Amino acid sequence: MRRIKKVGILTSGGDAPGMNAAIRAITRSAIYNNLNVVGIRRGYYGLVFNDMVPFDSGSVSNIIQQGGTILKTARCKEFISDEGRFEAYKNLCAQAIDALVVIGGDGTLRGARIFAEENDIPIVALPGTIDNDLGGTDITIGYDTALNTIIEAVDKIRDTATSHERLFFVEVMGHMAGYLALNGAIASGAEAAIIPERETEIDQLAELVRRGFRKSKNSAIVLVAENPATGGALGLAQRIKEEFPEYDARVTILGHLQRGGSPTAADRILASRMGAEAINALMAGQRNVMIGSQNGRMVYTPFTMAVTQKKPIKETDIELVKILSI
Ligand code: F6P
Repeated sequence: MRRIKKVGILTSGGDAPGMNAAIRAITRSAIYNNLNVVGIRRGYYGLVFNDMVPFDSGSVSNIIQQGGTILKTARCKEFISDEGRFEAYKNLCAQAIDALVVIGGDGTLRGARIFAEENDIPIVALPGTIDNDLGGTDITIGYDTALNTIIEAVDKIRDTATSHERLFFVEVMGHMAGYLALNGAIASGAEAAIIPERETEIDQLAELVRRGFRKSKNSAIVLVAENPATGGALGLAQRIKEEFPEYDARVTILGHLQRGGSPTAADRILASRMGAEAINALMAGQRNVMIGSQNGRMVYTPFTMAVTQKKPIKETDIELVKILSI
C-alpha cells in the first residue's frame, strides 16, 4: 500500500450548508495524521487551471458555522473533456498531491469516478447536496439545514395563507428527487407533497383541498418539488386555476434560499464525522468510495454504486402525509 503524503480537497456542484464543516474536519484530521493539505478552489476548475492553496489548521478556523463553501464551487465544463482531465492530472502531479477528497452531489461523483478510472489517484467522496438524492447514504450533508429553511418559510406562508383562506403551492428544490418536498411536507404539516417519483392526479389534489376547506381548514399548503417537465409549482397552479377557478391559489418558489444559511447541528456533526472518516478511509488504503451514513454508522460505497443506485422514496412517508393532512 502506497503511503499518502498530501491530500487535496475540493467542493463541486451546488453548494450545501455543512460543506465548510466537512472541509474543516478533513483538514484537521489530515494534519492530525501528519498529512499535508491543499485546498483546491472552484471545484474541478481548480484542478484543471491549477488554482490551489496550501492549508494549515488555521485555514479552517471559524468556518464550521458558515454556510456556502470557503473553497468556492462550480460546475466545470472543462473537466468533462479528456484534455481537461489530463491537465488536471498533470497539475495534481506537479503539486505532489497523492490523494483527493471531493465533496458534492451526483455530478461531482460522476466526475470523480471517471477521473479515478483514468488516473492512478485514490479519491474519497463525501455526499454534499441539499437534495439527499444519492444512493449509499441515508442522508447527505446540507439536507437537514435545507429542510429547516423550508419549514421556517412554510410556517410564515401559513400565517398569510390562513388569514386569506388561500391555497399555496410552495416549490422546493430537489433535482428530480422528492426528498425535500416529501419530508418538508411532513415537517411543516403541509396538506400534500407533489414529487417527481409519483404521477399527480389534479382531480384528486383538488378534492383533497376542497375536503380540507369544507372540514374547517383555513388554508391549504402543497409542497411541490421543482420539475422542469411539468413546470413545477407554477405549472401546477396554472392547471388548478384553469380547472378549478374557485381557488385563489398563490405560488412561492423558495429557490436558492434553500442552499444558504448556517448549518444545523445535525449537518455540522454529519459533516465532521464524514470528513474525519474520509481521512481514515484514505489511510486504510480505500479508494474510489463515497462515505455514507447508514443507520448511524459510517459506510463506504463504491462510486459506481453511489451514482447508479437510486435511493427509493419511502412509501410510508407518502402515506404519512396523506394520513396527517385529514
Ligand atoms: O443539486 C442542488 C441543487 O440546488 C438542485 O436542487 C437544483 O436543481 C440545482 O442545484 C440548481 O442548480 P444551480 O444553482 O446551478 O441553478
